[in-house]
Amino acid sequence: MAATPIAVVTGASSGIGAATARTLAAEGFRVVLTARRKDRIEALAAELTDAGHQATAYALDVTDRAAVDEFATAFRSLAVLVNNAGGALGADPVATGDPADWRQMYETNVIGTLNVTQALLPALTASGDGTIVILSSTAALSSYEGGGGYVAAKHGEHVLAETLRLEIVGTPVRVIEVAPGMVRTEEFATTRFRGDTEKAAKVYAGVDAPLTAEDVADTIGWAVTRPSHVNIDLLVVRPRAQASNTKVHRTL
Ligand SMILES: NC(=O)c1ccc[n+]([C@@H]2O[C@H](COP(=O)([O-])OP(=O)(O)OC[C@H]3O[C@@H](n4cnc5c(N)ncnc54)[C@H](OP(=O)(O)O)[C@@H]3O)[C@@H](O)[C@H]2O)c1
Repeated sequence: MAATPIAVVTGASSGIGAATARTLAAEGFRVVLTARRKDRIEALAAELTDAGHQATAYALDVTDRAAVDEFATAFRSLAVLVNNAGGALGADPVATGDPADWRQMYETNVIGTLNVTQALLPALTASGDGTIVILSSTAALSSYEGGGGYVAAKHGEHVLAETLRLEIVGTPVRVIEVAPGMVRTEEFATTRFRGDTEKAAKVYAGVDAPLTAEDVADTIGWAVTRPSHVNIDLLVVRPRAQASNTKVHRTL
């Protein structure tokens, strides 16, 4: 009997990562949930296991290369890696943005994705049919005022995805970039505004149906389950009420 294919999801403790873990578990993958908050991924793994799926949790900070390398030793073969861990800090203009925020966003979104991808690429290749998903953003494709360090970091992730695809062509691994626009998740905007829930709520104010974590997980699940020879290079997904990063219809 063939072994159940394994999918690793980073940042599976909330939002898009948690929803993606649920989707991939339902698609028949054995999901390995990682994030820094162990209690949250353990609770989700237990919930998925109780529902008859295969799921385990592993506490991991994607910016800690030694820890990522240690984590990777558990995998001889891996079907799917979803690089989802990431996020934004602040919405300051370039003129006044804090370099520490820029550095942290680059570390988490770009170096974190680099760390995990490098460490797991041998196992993805060894599977004979590996898939890497990189959760960038529409911020990876065009800028917006106040986007500063987040836009720069997500452009970095986009370049990582494009370059890796060029470099590993001919190996049995595909690279899929999913670039969502506005997604209302529980924590993304609150983290960005350092716990200021009022500011966070304004991001979505008057927007008729921003995307949900489940909408994005659904697109990831679809892209990952295409036949092996089909590579969805870049999938841009926005709510209907958002035409661009700066053109959002609000009923206020
Ligand atoms: N929400 C949006 O509008 C939107 C739009 C486009 C793209 N995205 C991207 O989609 C991804 C998920 O966003 P989300 O909305 O689901 O945000 P979220 O709910 O804030 O989730 C972020 C996840 O990343 C994890 N994380 C952060 N730093 C980490 C680190 N150093 N090591 C390991 N895990 C880390 C967090 O877990 P722990 O804190 O437990 O470690 C959490 O699970 C991010 O890359 C984000 O940039 C979001």
